[in-house]
Amino acid sequence: MPVPGPGYSITVRVEAPPSASAAGDLTSAVGRVGGVLTAFDVVESHADAIVVDITANVSNADHVEVVTDALDALPGVRVRKVSDRTFLMHLGGKLSVSPKVQLRNRDDLSRAYTPGVARVCQAIAANPADARRLTIKRNTVAVVTDGSAVLGLGNIGPAAALPVMEGKAALFKKFADVDAWPVCLDTQDTEEIIKIVKALAPVYAGINLEDIAAPRCFEIEKRLRDQLDIPVFHDDQHGTAIVVVAALRNALRVVGKEIEDCKIVVSGAGAAGSAIMRLLMHKKPGDIIAADINGIVHLGRSDLDDNLRWLAENTNKDNVSGSLHDALAGADVFIGVSAPNLFGAEQVATMAANPVVFALANPDPEIDPLEAQKHAAVVATGRSDYPNQINNVLAFPGVFRGLLDAQAHEITDDMLIAAANAIADVVDDRLNASYIVPSVFDSAVAPAVADAVKSAARKSGAAG
Ligand SMILES: NC(=O)c1ccc[n+]([C@@H]2O[C@H](COP(=O)([O-])OP(=O)(O)OC[C@H]3O[C@@H](n4cnc5c(N)ncnc54)[C@H](O)[C@@H]3O)[C@@H](O)[C@H]2O)c1
Repeated sequence: MPVPGPGYSITVRVEAPPSASAAGDLTSAVGRVGGVLTAFDVVESHADAIVVDITANVSNADHVEVVTDALDALPGVRVRKVSDRTFLMHLGGKLSVSPKVQLRNRDDLSRAYTPGVARVCQAIAANPADARRLTIKRNTVAVVTDGSAVLGLGNIGPAAALPVMEGKAALFKKFADVDAWPVCLDTQDTEEIIKIVKALAPVYAGINLEDIAAPRCFEIEKRLRDQLDIPVFHDDQHGTAIVVVAALRNALRVVGKEIEDCKIVVSGAGAAGSAIMRLLMHKKPGDIIAADINGIVHLGRSDLDDNLRWLAENTNKDNVSGSLHDALAGADVFIGVSAPNLFGAEQVATMAANPVVFALANPDPEIDPLEAQKHAAVVATGRSDYPNQINNVLAFPGVFRGLLDAQAHEITDDMLIAAANAIADVVDDRLNASYIVPSVFDSAVAPAVADAVKSAARKSGAAG
């Protein structure tokens, strides 16, 4: 059941009598039906009436009606208009382009555009590497999607994906001063996506793939990495993997366990799960057991595609089979990136002492975090209304800042691990069971991640 939150916030404009009790009557009416009042503004005042904007967080569309009906039912009160503040924020989109140069007169024009610009073009034609010095390329990232796996909404297409990509670009700018631009493609054909991204790459110093469904995303990323001389990062895979590896490092510090001794169960072997497991391997865990919709991934399964076969070959040392519940028995860590409500407190009770549970399926996790807490020593989710939110915003802005500053032409697992370690280190001595990752608003995070990625790029020879 969704709870009222700022993601669904409304402003209701009402006319009310100018009585001393009006404000109290209005705010109580909202509270009585479960709305969470966040602002109360008198926008007009007359001898016989006041006009008030009441802003409140609600749970869903039905709840909007309940709140407005409760206000309308008050004596002398009339609801004039209801605005959805989330939609208001999206009117006209969330991004714009603004020039960095002044165009005040003919002289400015002649240098920023023709005829002066021609000499800059010729310089780049003679030395293509100059594009990073003389154009927007050095700080620009394409946020590329085909709209096939958008949030938890599924295949809603490229136009409907645009608000998410605009949001992503806004986050890039806010947290790391990266100029990112949405590129929503009206095709879901792997070859066509590769061809288009390759063709538009000259403008960009990095490609951030976003919300492209598995298993297509694996092929697209691999092929683009092979063919482009700029880093290609799929945030749903690698951004998630970085933050999970960071959070796990700190969670294991809380429970006093070494990863080499841990049995880690990962539910979900799609985009996020596969990337998490591949990155975790670098930390040499005791064992990883992957489970998906068909149970534990093992060599005897008849449905193994390339990705699942790789996982079967590289995890599950004893090649066990069975269900997720079987896998959980004796496990030190559960990481879920799969589906809601797959187990309860009774399964957590079968895990090893002081288990760590990351239930990250969105919006509803694999286990209710309150149930998990009955037996788990550390619990994390993907949600902002619980402690320990595993949020990719901790990773991708700093990762790209570092890549762009290093003028990197590729991204490696060493850089991803460096980013994870940097995020974990920011927590420092604030570490406890409810604080294994920093806040997304901690301004130390993006610079720390950027520095770590830049150093790793220089060390590996990937820097330009
Ligand atoms: N930071 C975060 O919190 C974060 C980041 C990435 C993904 N996620 C969440 O993780 C989930 C998976 O994302 P994805 O992009 O990897 O999706 P995906 O479609 O690529 O993979 C989903 C995986 O879950 C498995 N699965 C589906 N239903 C299952 C069930 N009933 N039991 C066991 N396994 C099941 C599928 O077999 C598949 O392996 C989503 O809910 C997503 O919101 C959270």
